[in-house]
Parts: sequence; C-alpha cells; structure tokens
Amino acid sequence: MRAAIRFLLLLVGCLALLAWGASALFNRQAMAWAERDMAMRARLAASAASPSLREATGTAARKLLDAMVRDERLMGAALCMRDGRLEVASNGFPTPLGCNALPAEAREADEEGWDRTIPGPLGASHLTVVPMAEDTEPPRLLLLVHDMSFVDRRADTTRRYTFLAFALVGLLGAAAASVVARLSWLSWTTQLRKVLLAPFRATSATAPRRFQPLLSDVRDLVSSLALEEARTESGWTPERLQQVLRRQLGGEGILVVANREPYIHERDDAGEVRVVHPASGLVTALEPVMRACSGTWIAHGSGNADFDVVDAKDHVRVPPDRPVYDLRRLRLSKEEEKGYYYGFSNEGLWPLCHIAHARPEFRSADWEQYQRVNRRFADAVAEESGSPDPIVLVQDYHFALLPKYLRERLPRATILTFWHIPWPNAERFGICPWERELLEGLLGSSIIGFHTQAHCTNFLESVDRYMESRLDRERHSVVQGGRETLVRAYPISIDWPSRWADEAAPVAECHAAVRRELGIPEDALLGVGVDRLDYTKGIEERFLAVERLLEREPGLHGRFWFAQVAAPSRTIIEAYRGLNERVEALATRINERFGRPGWRPIILARTHHEPPAVFRLYRAADLCYVSALHDGMNLVAKEFVAARDDLRGVLVLSRFTGAARELSEALIVNPYDIDSAASALSEALVMPAEEQEDRMRAMRSLVSELNVYRWAGKMLLDATRARRRERLASRLSIGKGLPR
Ligand code: G6P
Repeated sequence: MRAAIRFLLLLVGCLALLAWGASALFNRQAMAWAERDMAMRARLAASAASPSLREATGTAARKLLDAMVRDERLMGAALCMRDGRLEVASNGFPTPLGCNALPAEAREADEEGWDRTIPGPLGASHLTVVPMAEDTEPPRLLLLVHDMSFVDRRADTTRRYTFLAFALVGLLGAAAASVVARLSWLSWTTQLRKVLLAPFRATSATAPRRFQPLLSDVRDLVSSLALEEARTESGWTPERLQQVLRRQLGGEGILVVANREPYIHERDDAGEVRVVHPASGLVTALEPVMRACSGTWIAHGSGNADFDVVDAKDHVRVPPDRPVYDLRRLRLSKEEEKGYYYGFSNEGLWPLCHIAHARPEFRSADWEQYQRVNRRFADAVAEESGSPDPIVLVQDYHFALLPKYLRERLPRATILTFWHIPWPNAERFGICPWERELLEGLLGSSIIGFHTQAHCTNFLESVDRYMESRLDRERHSVVQGGRETLVRAYPISIDWPSRWADEAAPVAECHAAVRRELGIPEDALLGVGVDRLDYTKGIEERFLAVERLLEREPGLHGRFWFAQVAAPSRTIIEAYRGLNERVEALATRINERFGRPGWRPIILARTHHEPPAVFRLYRAADLCYVSALHDGMNLVAKEFVAARDDLRGVLVLSRFTGAARELSEALIVNPYDIDSAASALSEALVMPAEEQEDRMRAMRSLVSELNVYRWAGKMLLDATRARRRERLASRLSIGKGLPR
C-alpha cells in the first residue's frame, strides 16, 4: 500500500513537471510568433501612413497618428527626431516609452527598422522604430507601440488548459493501467496456482521461466519438510527436542497450562513439608518435556503448603532436586474449584467424553466458574509471556475456552492444545448445553491434538454439526474467521529411558522386597493394577476377572495374589465416593469367598504411591492388568513396559485404551467380557519366558521410539510448518487463496 501511494505521488509529480515544461515551451513559441506578427503589422502601418506623414507636421501629423492608433493593439504612435526629441505623438501615448527612452541603436535604425519587446507592470509592449522615407536629413523616426499583454493572458489560459489536459490524461492512464494490472495479476496468480497445484516433476520443466525462482523456493521448502518428516519418526531425545525449540522456534521457553501441577507441596501431621508427585497421566507425560525445554508451567496450586514455598509472584523453581523450570501457581477459591474443577470439568466433561456409563451433570453455576477460571488462566499466561508470540501448550478438558481467550489477548501466539481424554461422537457431544462455546473456545488454537485419529474425526464431525465454519477434510483442519486450526493425532507417551526405571533396584531385589512388604511368599504369582480410583478404569471389572480366574483354576488358590494400588481421586464427587465403596466391598467379598488363612487374593491399597514405589511394584509383577473401560491413551501400560528391562512380565490390556493401538504385543482384552479377561490372566500366568521376552522386547522398542519427546517434537514441528506456510503465503501475497 505504501509503495502504491509513493508511486502515485511520483506519477503526479512527473505529470505536473511535464505540464509545466510543455506550457513554458508553448508560451515561448507563442511570444515569438506574436513578436513577428507585431513587427509585420507595424511595418505595414508605417508604410501605409508614410506618404501622408511625410508632408504633415504639427496638428496634421498628430491627427494622422491618432487615426493610426485606432487599431486596437496599437497603444501609441510618435514621430521622433534622431536625437531623441519628440516631434509629435498620438493622444494618450504611453510617456515612459517615449522618444527619449529609445536606446542608441533604435535612434540609428536604418530602413530595416528596429524592434524590441519590453516587459511592463501591465503586460509586455512591442516597440517598432521605422525611419520615414522623406527628404529631411536625417529622416525622422516613426515609433509605434503595440500592446502585447494579450500574449501573457493567452499564456495563462494555455497553462491552465495544459495542466487540465495532463491531469485528464494522467487519470485515464492510471485507470487503464490499474485495469491492465488487475487483469495481468489475475492471470499471473491463476497460472501460479496451476503450477503450484500440479506435481513438481510435471511442472519444473514446463513451468514458465518467471515462475522458476519461486518454484525452486517452494521445492526447497517441500524437501526440507519431507526431510523433517522422515526425521520426525525416530530418534527423539530431550536434546533433540531442545534443538527443535532452538532452531525452529527461536529457542524461547514454552508455557504449559495444565490444571494439575507436577509437584504438590503438602504439610504432613508433623508439620513437615513434603513434595508429592500427583497420579496423573498428563503430569507423567509432560513433566519430562518441561525438564527438556524449560519455561513455565501454570497450574492450580492445590497443595496445602503450595503457597508457603512460592515467591512474590507465586513462582517456585522445580524439580525440587534440580530446578530447571518455573511452576506458577494460581490460587482458586473454594467456589471456583467446586464449579470449574469438580463440577463442569469432572462431573460434566469427564463423563461426557468417556463411555463409562456415568451420567454427565451440567449446571449453569459450574459453567460460570469454568468460564471465569479459564479467563483467569488466560490472564496468567499473558502475564507470564515474555513475547507477543509465545508458544503455549494448553492441556486437557479443563481449558476448552482458554485458547479463544488467549487468542484475544495474544493474537500471534502459537497455541497447541492437547485433549488428553477421548472426544465423543457428535451426537453425544451435543448433550452439553454449551457445545458451540466449547468448540469455539478450542478453535482459538493453532493446533488441536488428540491421541487417536478416531477422536480427531469425532471432533471434526462435532464442528461440522454445531458450528458454521469451513472444514478441510483433506488437511484435517477447520477454518474460521480466516484462521486455520489443524486437528491432528499425536499419541502421547512417557520419557525414555524412564528415570524411575533407571533409579529402581534390580528386578530380583524388587521381586523379593515387594513380596516381603506385601507379606506374601517369595514364589507367589503376582498380578498388579495401578490407577487412580476412577470409574473409567474398570477396577470392578478387573476384580471380577480375578474372581472368575480363581473360580476356574483352583490350582492358583494360595499361589496367586492381585495387588491393586488405587490412588484416591476427586473424592468429593458422589460417583467417586460410590466407586470407592463398591471397590472395597467387592475386594472384601472375593477375599471372603476364596480366602483362607495366609491367603487373601486381592490386596487393595487405596493410598497415593510415589513413582519409585509404583515402579518397584511393576518390576516385581508377573502380570499387569490395565482394564480401563475407555481411556485416551493410558500411560500405566507404557510405564509397565518401561519398567521391565528384564523383558519379563505380561501386559494384559483393555482394547478400549489408546495404548492398545500401539502395544499390540500385549494380551488385548475386552474388560467387560469377564470370561475372556480371566482367560487372558490365566494365559499370562503360564506364558513361557521366551514368549514374554519376545512380546516385551517388541513393546519396549516401540515405546522407546514413540516416546514423549517425539509427541512434543511432532507437535512443535507442525507448529513450525504452520508458521512457515503462513510466511510463504504472505510472500506470494495470495493469502487464503494459496493451495496448501
Ligand atoms: C486424567 C486427566 C488429567 C488429570 C488426571 C488426574 O489423566 O486427563 O488431566 O490430571 O486424570 O486427575 P486429577 O483430577 O487428579 O488431576
């Protein structure tokens, strides 16, 4: 735009200069013509008057001169003596131009005469001096003064018209040029789009020469992206993730927003503050990413000593043993926590998104708090952001509105939102009274990630059903208000190698220690389950499968134990309290049914276990049963695999977890089908060591490749691509019309 204005100003300047030059040239020529004309007229008048004037003197001569000046252009006529004296002049002769003012050359004029144009305040005058053909010696001079002011008047008019004509020509020219430019721009962009849409090999040779430099730019970009694509599949480490951040995204630290904090400070009964690692798949995955990338994690400060250890800005450096990133804690009031966390997030969205037969509860008061807290977190991100275009990782169903609120505050931010739980089909999603608002909120993101393609498809269908936006099914994206949101599957994972597995004691040691702690024999067969006490985890179905196993195989009585670690979770919600009671009652019933002195088959530990204890349990187990009824991914399955560097142990895995799509060497079961789940448990307990090793090796190789650094890296690389594509589009100035 600025260039166009500059060009226009230049054009106007040039046209004005041209008009001025042309009118000056024309006026000079007109003046020359007028002078010639005046000289001729003067000589004609002189020769016509000469015979009468020759004889006349005094009054007679004056009358003759008066008669001559009747010509409208002749201002005066006079007879002068050669010495400059005036003999006689016409009436009203302009005295300043009189005989005595004539220069010497005029007084000495021969029969050719003398002419001169002189400027005056009221316009130019033309003087002509012609000697009279008479006998007096020297002959007298006839002086004629012509009015030349008409030349100036004509010059003014000419100048005006010349400027007008040039302005008109300029305007017409500009209009014609802009029509021509528009037409050629249209044809240029059409041709360019054709070239860009066709496959490269087909176009490189045949494309017009003017497109070759651009094509080569695009080709470079595509091949660098292809190279990246190939490289993104394997070899992900914390260092490589750091490199991606440094090279592709300017090395800035990232901002993570997640409701759950990675470290909780709790004061125990003795008044000592201790650090607790919460039981959360989200934290398990994301914490190693933050350790690699650094930056700030913004979360609800939920520990009773959380605000005793923060600085003035509610920050604390973590991990506590080797701090590398900031944890920013937000205080939530009791009402906020109740409405936003317990209410809308966990009584509304959680059951809505999981097929676990729990009824979602949606209350307007909870919705209000949900909006309020999302806004508060958006404010916190804006406060923490050190630049206008930060990279923000928004985590999970607690923050569906945050991407939109954040986009309003930081329009240039790269917002990657990851939904850690399943996304229901469009019909079920419509149960939520605020379905459109949730979708709108999420579409503030640059990229929205789910664990599986099926959840991406459900999301796109929900957008299709409840929103007025353009879906690009080929690119898996939604375009709304001119902004594109990519929808992609990024299966989440754990860090590899796992620090908890590395720090754990050798397997034999764990085997013995765990059995000792549980009070069971050294050679006991041990199955384990590790979960939050949540109705989506299928803990009741798991116990029922153990019961069926024991019904069918009396040989296992007194030899097989199942240890269930169940971390209390969301305990003020009725559905969770009910589950707690049912699980306890079921374990008691099964233990009473089969138990005998020295053997109670189900060991239920409903307390929080820190990661080292959980990893010891994994390493001591003969099998791990993950029986979730519906789960986005389930990282317990992957952690069990990570813990078994001895290649032993069997994973029995629900087919309703995202993990089942990757860990196909596990024994995959339908947890609702109690008989076949019991058969899988039985198969696991007798699986030959060699088969265990083969299966475990395959799963370990997969989890080590598809680790959490790859999860984060792929998302960040997609964000880089989106940024680059935008840059290329603006370079081509085709904007939205560019085929992607
Ligand atoms: C799931 C959710 C996480 C959550 C975790 C623990 O994995 O996807 O966002 O942190 O459960 O639940 P809690 O309510 O204790 O944070």
